[in-house]
Amino acid sequence: MRILLLGGGGFIGSHVVDQLLQRTDHELVAYDLYDEKLVSGNGHSALKFIRGDIREDHERLGALVHESDLVVDLIAHANPSLYIKVPLDVVDLNFHENLFIAESCIKHSKRLIQFSTCEVYGKSVVPLVHDRLDDPDDPAFARFSEDTTHMILGPVSRHRWIYSCAKQLLERILHAYGLEDRLDYTIIRPFNFIGPRIDYLPSEGDGNPRVFSHFLQAILDGPSMQLVNGGSQRRAYTLIDDAVDCILRIIENPNGVCSRQIFNIGSPDNEVSIRELAEKMIKIYKRRWWDGHRALPRLVEVDGEEFYGSGYDDSDRRIPDITKARQLLNWEPRYTLDEVVERSMEYWCNGSNGSNEYNPTDTTP
Ligand code: NAD
Ligand code: UGA
Repeated sequence: MRILLLGGGGFIGSHVVDQLLQRTDHELVAYDLYDEKLVSGNGHSALKFIRGDIREDHERLGALVHESDLVVDLIAHANPSLYIKVPLDVVDLNFHENLFIAESCIKHSKRLIQFSTCEVYGKSVVPLVHDRLDDPDDPAFARFSEDTTHMILGPVSRHRWIYSCAKQLLERILHAYGLEDRLDYTIIRPFNFIGPRIDYLPSEGDGNPRVFSHFLQAILDGPSMQLVNGGSQRRAYTLIDDAVDCILRIIENPNGVCSRQIFNIGSPDNEVSIRELAEKMIKIYKRRWWDGHRALPRLVEVDGEEFYGSGYDDSDRRIPDITKARQLLNWEPRYTLDEVVERSMEYWCNGSNGSNEYNPTDTTP
């Protein structure tokens, strides 16, 4: 099979490429602005990398879709700081450009795997009715299922939700094309994947990456880890190896079980508050790498709008219901929270700055 991976040079894309090269004989075309993360794939005869900007490349992309058997679309702005700073660019890339790809798939009758996000679920119901609940900490309030859970976003003035909204509208359009029998699609909703090659350290770029990279930078260079709005918000973290194992099963699509399905991919048992994540990273660093002298970062609370800018809002809690992936794909995440965090930290802390080779354990589907 010839697979076109749009955004194949990114964090998730580069791991998918690596594992496809190691475990299958599919022919791969990775299209991205960058190829620096395609470490082990570079030079492999089954991989062709095409550097390009989707926004200026529709003709070539139409032809690439036409030549492929399967299109995997990972292209997006995926960092919350961008939802605040450049909301229209987020809609442009994450909705309009991705819709162009979906419509190319329709035109050329190609199967599409579309990366969406767990952010489509928005907030849990708890912040809205907290005082009326006997047990607001019951995880059942934040366990989100693909086909039954309602989606709760904040007001328009909280433009952080534009990312969620753009991805949600794209999902609804794919669903509608499916209803008309015009598109064979699968939607993936990742729940906070982390691991080697995620983002970049804040000191390496001029952007604002996701939380893991901020906390790691603070551990390596100090002085403080900043806990946005106190750090009581919770996330469930998934090691990229577990995630890719599931993604490969979706790519193989045994007996067509993934057609017109939405899949949560995540580790429901790996839930942690952001404050606990910060404490855990410091604890692991002290045990594995600390020289006993250098100052470790302090935990400092910071207001969300101060950290990201006006219009920031947050998801309080989200836990994936992965019943569907278990039943249809026989998939189960294997890594505990401690393993996920430690393996992700190893990549940077064992070497100088992310130039390490990463050898995932065997996760053959
Ligand atoms: P990433 O930023 O590492 O990957 C996105 C890739 O798209 C990057 O390599 C980037 O260079 C490329 N890209 C951006 N604009 C482009 C353009 N104009 N033309 C060509 N390429 C362009 O992010 P990721 O974490 O690998 O996320 C991949 C997908 O999964 C995204 O759609 C994201 O929304 C979704 N997602 C990821 C997570 C996660 O846990 N990492 C969670 C939810 C959703
Ligand atoms: C992310 C992004 O929206 C997407 O990459 C993706 O769709 C999704 O979640 C995912 O990875 O599943 P979020 O989890 O909010 O959203 O992004 P992070 O930057 O990783 O932040 C996690 C939490 O840590 C947020 O509550 C944020 O406010 C907080 N944070 C962030 C801090 O407390 N300190 C920091 O230095 C950075």
